[in-house]
Amino acid sequence: RTFRIAAIPADGVGREVVAAGRAVLDALAGDSGGAFAFDWEEFPWGCEYYARTGTMMADDGLERLKDFDAIYFGAVGWPTVPDHISLWGLRLRICQSFDQWANVRPVHFLPGVVSPLRKADTTELDWVVVRENSEGEYAGLGGRNLSGRGPGGEVAVQSSLFTEVGCERVIRFAFDLARTRDRRKVSSVTKSNAQQYGMVLWDEVFRRVAADHPDVETESVLVDAMSAKFVLRPEELSVVVASNLNADILSDLGSALAGSLGLAASANLNPERRFPSMFEPVHGSAPDIAGRGLANPIGAVGSGALMLEHLGLPDQAARLHRAIEATTAAGILTGDLGGTASTDDVTKALIDALARS
Ligand code: NAI
Ligand code: MG
Repeated sequence: RTFRIAAIPADGVGREVVAAGRAVLDALAGDSGGAFAFDWEEFPWGCEYYARTGTMMADDGLERLKDFDAIYFGAVGWPTVPDHISLWGLRLRICQSFDQWANVRPVHFLPGVVSPLRKADTTELDWVVVRENSEGEYAGLGGRNLSGRGPGGEVAVQSSLFTEVGCERVIRFAFDLARTRDRRKVSSVTKSNAQQYGMVLWDEVFRRVAADHPDVETESVLVDAMSAKFVLRPEELSVVVASNLNADILSDLGSALAGSLGLAASANLNPERRFPSMFEPVHGSAPDIAGRGLANPIGAVGSGALMLEHLGLPDQAARLHRAIEATTAAGILTGDLGGTASTDDVTKALIDALARS
């Protein structure tokens, strides 16, 4: 079957890694004996589009995206546009409008990659961070200039929103995911000692959902302690579920521990499948290296593997993972991993590894 995919490379290295990911995914499809194919449509939205039009995406953009089988996204943000405008105008607009409430971010070691954690006595690292992706700290609630006092006396409020339905659905999602894994464990992360309303609600919902899953081991950990645990006892983790902001921070930490932010993949899922889900590397547009062929494409390619799973092609996703492992094991690494390979070198190596498999 042919899947219709909307590609939104957007800004900076987003363009380089989406091009790489598309090439690898097309190579995989081309080698499937006609089992599946991709029909891509690329949208030119992002900060350059904003400079021309004053909006980050077309006014009817959501309407144009809504019937695709999936969205393959690069990264948004460029120094010419304030980050809160670019992020809200494109990525968060899509996530929130399409109710992509579960953001899944796997973290694991790859062969041939030297991780800061491997220096410790740790041989295993295999987690999935599940991020609440529709509310919490990124609900966009608040305002500026609330004191009316003018310059120097400004007061700004940034509120978090926690709904029982929102907490419960993402926590249940985490438990369902844990049941598919070797280690059936869910760690819930909040800061409910200091944030006494929303996060206490989250903790209560977590305890209730945990009671429905006696076969799954659980723990509730404060986010400061969890950030230490990520570094010191990573082998104790399997599925980690947290609110929007906390999981955003923890997943960057997790991917750095696995070797580089450039490796980390993610899926923004609308689990009900009423709207398309969106697959994107965790990293941003990396203006410091953009346009020079230096970006690590593995985060974007891994996001393509998550897309294949979502499209019902888990064997193809596994094939892609094996190609990624063969490439890193062969020492074909970009600069962020201490290597000298370019984005194109890694892309070619991935395609060669697929051809051999
Ligand atoms: P960033 O993720 O773009 O970069 C952080 C560091 O990681 C940089 O040193 C960069 O060179 C490196 N890096 C990132 N991706 C890499 C890759 N594929 N290969 C090799 N190295 C890589 O985060 P930063 O600098 O905080 O943000 C830059 C822009 O990206 C901002 O405009 C920000 O708002 C935006 N951003 C967008 C995200 C998204 O679209 N989902 C997520 C995070 C940031
Ligand atoms: Mg982030």
